[in-house]
Amino acid sequence: MNSYKSKLEEWYDSTAERYDSWGSRDGEYSSESKSLEVAKFNEMLNLIKIKENTKILDVATGTGIYLIEALKKGGVGYGVDISEKMLEQVKKKIIKFKLKGKIIRIIKGDAEKLPFPSGFFDIVICIGMFEYYPLEKVKTVLEEIKRVLKKKGSLIVDFPNKNNKEVYEFQKKERSAGHEIYIYEKGKINEFLKHMSFRIIKSNCAGIEIQFLLKLVKK
Ligand SMILES: C[S@@+](CC[C@H](N)C(=O)[O-])C[C@H]1O[C@@H](n2cnc3c(N)ncnc32)[C@H](O)[C@@H]1O
Repeated sequence: MNSYKSKLEEWYDSTAERYDSWGSRDGEYSSESKSLEVAKFNEMLNLIKIKENTKILDVATGTGIYLIEALKKGGVGYGVDISEKMLEQVKKKIIKFKLKGKIIRIIKGDAEKLPFPSGFFDIVICIGMFEYYPLEKVKTVLEEIKRVLKKKGSLIVDFPNKNNKEVYEFQKKERSAGHEIYIYEKGKINEFLKHMSFRIIKSNCAGIEIQFLLKLVKK
């Protein structure tokens, strides 16, 4: 793993126990911002049919907030993250919320090399991770997500919202922790996603993030 990723891993390892009680991703924003993001995420989920056997993968699952939210609608879950300590928090939640048969596997791994067979998932989620990488890296991750996603599957991702002033505060704080936050115009993100052969079904401004519900363009 390169040193930038190792730094992110160390950072999330060191903050994992506090992550949920922060209520947001950098410890400074109010829990309102996180609950807005979760509410907007639910609007996206409501547009997807989720059955009991729907397979859901959460890439960069962190403490599993979005995976567990999605599983409330049905399906079975899988999570991947580079931070072992963040995953320990998910494991605690599996016990606390009796999610044993619902969360099938939680794996330490890199989003660029997902340890799953091709065409395995109905839904993939990736929230709060793309901002740490330039678009050429995000491209590699999206190629890998495309590989594991079924042709008719759905993908929910987010990118920082350039039009929300607070995003620059967030960027400043993350920089002081040694990470970059990559912020692009929404038009550029739209173009990029289309170029990656995704159709934008819905996009939602959710505080410092913009969420996208995507489907693969039929070939
Ligand atoms: C802001 S947290 C988001 C966690 C969760 N998705 C959420 O929104 O609450 C970012 C997560 O991305 C993970 N991460 C960063 N780079 C990664 C990579 N290349 N592969 C897998 N996980 C990664 C970090 O370890 C961290 O848990």
